Amino acid sequence: MENPFALVPYVSKDLFCDREQETKTILEYLLNGSNVTLISPRRYGKTGLIYRVFDEIKEKKIDVNTCYADIYATEKVEDFIKTLSEAVITTLDRKKGVKAFLQFLGGLRPMLSYNPLTGNPELTMTFLSDYEKRHTLASIFEFLEKLDKKTIVAIDEFQQVRRYGNNMEALLRSYIQPLRNVQFVFCGSKKHLMAEMFTDARSPFYESTRCLYLEKIDREIYADFIVRMFAKGKKNITAKAVDFILDWTKVHTFYTQSLCNHVFLKSGKNVALQDALASAHQILVENEQTFLQWRDLLTPLQWNYLKAVAKEQSVDKPFATGFIQKYNIGTPANSNRILDALIDKELILATSTEEGVSYSVYNVFLSRWLEGQ
Ligand SMILES: Nc1ncnc2c1ncn2[C@@H]1O[C@H](COP(=O)(O)OP(=O)(O)O)[C@@H](O)[C@H]1O
Ligand SMILES: [Mg+2]
Repeated sequence: MENPFALVPYVSKDLFCDREQETKTILEYLLNGSNVTLISPRRYGKTGLIYRVFDEIKEKKIDVNTCYADIYATEKVEDFIKTLSEAVITTLDRKKGVKAFLQFLGGLRPMLSYNPLTGNPELTMTFLSDYEKRHTLASIFEFLEKLDKKTIVAIDEFQQVRRYGNNMEALLRSYIQPLRNVQFVFCGSKKHLMAEMFTDARSPFYESTRCLYLEKIDREIYADFIVRMFAKGKKNITAKAVDFILDWTKVHTFYTQSLCNHVFLKSGKNVALQDALASAHQILVENEQTFLQWRDLLTPLQWNYLKAVAKEQSVDKPFATGFIQKYNIGTPANSNRILDALIDKELILATSTEEGVSYSVYNVFLSRWLEGQ
């Protein structure tokens, strides 16, 4: 039996926990003609959800093309064009369509090969001028617009376009807006950046899409899922063990999946609290070297601060005397400065709550490890 706790964004509906409502909502928006923006902290399950939606489209035999481009590793417009083109080629997946697309890019002398290991298309192109880049980008969208069916293009880690400079956002917006046969899902994790891009009145993407903030998976639903997945693997897990897993990982999808995967791997037929505790401990031991490397990248004050937040689980009042004195942070100004730096490094996550903002250590395993230091 394969491990039912997948560590990749999406395998199949069977191994995917919930997100039923989100899948439905995103599909509704898209089929209704709206573009969608999907925002959440890292590793909550945005990428998985995109694949889930695409899978649903396939299952329901909805007659649209689906196209997925992850632009995380892109630094400039050229990279974006290349990644988008490769995604389009994967979507076309038919010799004729690919040929037509390459002809479309003709002036750039595109060379297509397929990675022998992954089977993914790899495209090299020669760009001359900025004008040519802009023109190519416009042409790709034009090409999609003219296809015989609608295409849904998901652009993952979309906040990356801000790094390209030259007001790429505005340019993209101007290309995207008139399209009728192409629809977009923009996906991103730097919450403030994405929120700014899509709600700031001065931003070119203002009000052009429907925003969806992805929350954690419902705890009860996740608990049922965990029991079901263990049962699928002919194992029986106690309610206490499941409770511990969800507490310890704070129901943060990636960490919950990782711990469950480990427990499943190491346990026998009957899985009890002891097994979950042992796996949790083992995971921290396995990650210790990485944590120590991160420590070396921080100042002692920053490290001390991170530890303080971990020990508190979450901090709502980082400038309050109580917190500052308890952990020797110095002054509220110190606290402010260090907090900003740690948020910027994505070591601390700021979550909006009804009462204000709450801060916690972003990486749940690191948080658990720091607590014990
Ligand atoms: N609904 C889900 N059910 C089970 N595992 C999930 C689910 N969503 C995400 N995951 C797990 O969490 C990990 C992180 O999800 P991912 O989609 O990559 O997050 P994000 O794109 O928000 O950073 C995945 O590799 C997968 O193991
Ligand atoms: Mg992702």
